[in-house]
Amino acid sequence: MSSKRVLEVLLCVIVVVACLSVKSEAQLQVGFYDSRCADAESIVKQEVSKAFNDDKGFAAALLRMHFHDCFIRGCDGSVLIDSTSDNVAEKDSPANNPSLRGFDIIDNAKTRLESLCAGVVSCADILAFAARDSIVITGGIGYKVPAGRGDGSISLASDTANLAPPTFNLEQLTAVFAAKGFTQEEMIILSGSHTIGRSHCTAFSNRLYNFSLTTPQDPSLDPVYATALKKLCPPGNDPALVVPMDPSSPATLDAGGYYGAILKSRGLFTSDQTLNSTVDSANIVKQNNAYPQQWKSKFATAMVKMGKLDVITGAARDVRLNCRVVN
Ligand code: HEM
Ligand SMILES: *[C@@H]1O[C@H](CO)[C@@H](O)[C@H](O)[C@H]1NC(C)=O
Ligand SMILES: *[C@@H]1O[C@H](CO)[C@@H](O)[C@H](O)[C@H]1NC(C)=O
Repeated sequence: MSSKRVLEVLLCVIVVVACLSVKSEAQLQVGFYDSRCADAESIVKQEVSKAFNDDKGFAAALLRMHFHDCFIRGCDGSVLIDSTSDNVAEKDSPANNPSLRGFDIIDNAKTRLESLCAGVVSCADILAFAARDSIVITGGIGYKVPAGRGDGSISLASDTANLAPPTFNLEQLTAVFAAKGFTQEEMIILSGSHTIGRSHCTAFSNRLYNFSLTTPQDPSLDPVYATALKKLCPPGNDPALVVPMDPSSPATLDAGGYYGAILKSRGLFTSDQTLNSTVDSANIVKQNNAYPQQWKSKFATAMVKMGKLDVITGAARDVRLNCRVVN
């Protein structure tokens, strides 16, 4: 390399490092509330435990809420904003209503935090902590949540069209997650969330009754399981009916309950079963099933990454005083 070239490269490196350090001022920080509201994380954890003791399903609910928050306009708490007379908010879109639940848990944590440290703890951070606590309480691996997210002020039902529906195939799911910076493996890792929680029958009833003109039942669904599901979800698409997504352990974050089910053709959604549809993706499914601790660890890492999606930090950071209402 010529000395001129070396100089050019050095200059480039200096510029990049300078830019990175400017950006890092406005990054999320582990322990963000240690000096601002020391009990913030423990209060959220208490509210999550309280809710879980009431109904174990709330852990799944809070995990999904954080996902739906982060994928739409970034992790800015916009999923928590209520609709008003002139705006239909995210939470009232078909992707979220009636399936998203647990808003009261966030409200309870927020009320306590406002009386303790007014205007300090964002709704977006409460949701990120609650999702982590939900993972821990269902048997996942705990992780430190980088915090300092600001709350948004825009929540539009129409934005939720960007959430993948359960009818998507592998290619479509991969594209939706790639648009947010995730690899196919990370998408498969995060989908393991479906080892906890429940689903409305309407999300998969097409696989039981209306798959195609020639084949009413999805041939990629185990027929024995299909028969059991048909009992729980009779024809007619009753919007009130729900089933556990992992019937053997609906409140335990276990790899086998999800990836093992897929390997037995018992993935509940098209979007679950499709993860086994190529050699590469099937290898990831098999690996997650065979090495559950490794999956949990990768899952925790992917959750931290998801929690950083398009966050508002630094000077632009705003904290809503009521998670349901724009300040
Ligand atoms: C890969 C694309 C995904 C699709 C198509 C999808 C779709 C769905 C659907 C249709 C439900 C059922 C909701 C209901 O009817 O009540 C559901 C539930 C759930 N999803 Fe996903 N999901 C995906 C990825 C994820 C990710 C990345 C996470 C978390 C990181 C997640 C967490 C959950 C949880 C925990 C539930 C249970 C919610 C409850 O019990 O209230 N999902 N998902
Ligand atoms: C099957 O799907 C068609 C088209 O979406 C719909 O019109 C019909 O009502 C469905 N039938 C059942 C049994 O769900
Ligand atoms: C999953 O994929 C693997 C590899 O392509 C295949 O051998 C196996 O039969 C598939 N299992 C199911 C249940 O589709």
